[in-house]
Amino acid sequence: MRVDVVLGLQWGDEGKGKIVDALAERYEVVARFQGGPNAGHTLYHHGQKVVLHQVPAGIFHEGVRCLIGDGVVIDPEILVQEVEGLSRMGVGVEERLYLGRGVHLILPVHRWLEAVSQEADKIGTTRRGIGPAYADRYARRGIAVADLEKPDYRQRILDLTAYHQKQFPGAPPVELSDRFWEALENLRRLRWVSTYEWLRQHRRILAEGSQGTLLDVFAGSYPYVTSSHTTVAGVCAGLLVAPQEIGQVWGVVKAYATRVGAGPFPTEIAGELAIWLQERGNERGSTTGRLRRCGWLDLPLLKYAITINGVTALIITKGDILAGLPSVKVRIGGSDDAPLYEELPGWKSTSDPNYEAFLRWIEAQIGVPVWAISTGPHRQDWQIRRKDLLVEKT
Ligand code: IMP
Repeated sequence: MRVDVVLGLQWGDEGKGKIVDALAERYEVVARFQGGPNAGHTLYHHGQKVVLHQVPAGIFHEGVRCLIGDGVVIDPEILVQEVEGLSRMGVGVEERLYLGRGVHLILPVHRWLEAVSQEADKIGTTRRGIGPAYADRYARRGIAVADLEKPDYRQRILDLTAYHQKQFPGAPPVELSDRFWEALENLRRLRWVSTYEWLRQHRRILAEGSQGTLLDVFAGSYPYVTSSHTTVAGVCAGLLVAPQEIGQVWGVVKAYATRVGAGPFPTEIAGELAIWLQERGNERGSTTGRLRRCGWLDLPLLKYAITINGVTALIITKGDILAGLPSVKVRIGGSDDAPLYEELPGWKSTSDPNYEAFLRWIEAQIGVPVWAISTGPHRQDWQIRRKDLLVEKT
């Protein structure tokens, strides 16, 4: 068994979904290992825009099976809706999607906690109940998919809801709607598996990261982080695989940087250029619709992300968005308050020699090859630069 990995090396939104979709046909399985519906992977299927929140981005490939692995937290209502939407599009999702029995549930009370407490505002979370669901998981009172087979699962959900409600006596009560209970029933239509046993029946697995390394709960700028391990360590923990089973680690990086929500962002740009990037790059959260903060590429942070993940090859996305600027900046050092930049000549398009020069300069700075570039939003808009690094088809 070998597990290759696609990870975001910034604050998410690097364009991982499209890369996973492009690589998927080389694998038997595409597996999510962390996060939940805070993710939003935008893809184009037969020209139609699809945003996947919980279903792995390999789902559009008929020969590929998709796993939601144990490290994930799922929102049953959102998952059921997503499965129904994909089925209506003719995607054979019910035959190809597998759900780890150890996956934990995001309950209405988890979303409610983000609405009634001030903490979510401070961090600028996606308000999908991610933090509270992981908090319950780590406090050993969370509810896993496999618990839905036990006779007392309804009571446990009611008890957990009451437990949290007690802390906010004046707040409006949590609504446990019929739709929620129905969604739990509908989860039974999916194939539940033991992540450990099921993965071991397959040889070639692609682990699909969500969010980005700088949002990792341990490695990121705490507390301005998400609540899961977005790094390669999260693959081992969330899919129950050993480090030796990890093969290629593809790191996806945007040619500039964006961040949604609060927290430090040393290379952040203000003013007209930021607005230009937001518009040209469509830098609006795919889950929340919020405008993303924009900035220059930050090499010291990129080196950090490459090191802690053991990244073997890079994929650089959205160089096309910067096309037309007379020059681009990249942070090469300095402090977070006073970053030091290198200014490089701009490019007219991603086939301009100046763009190739930019890619080579990055390779020289960080010592990791740029395996491929993404040149636009559509499925076919990407190019492999280093064919020698290509994985074999299964
Ligand atoms: P949470 O994951 O909803 O708890 O949000 C915590 C932080 O992670 C916030 O700054 C969010 O904006 C950010 N975040 C969560 N998911 C994503 C994502 O998929 N892309 C970008 N930022 C994200």
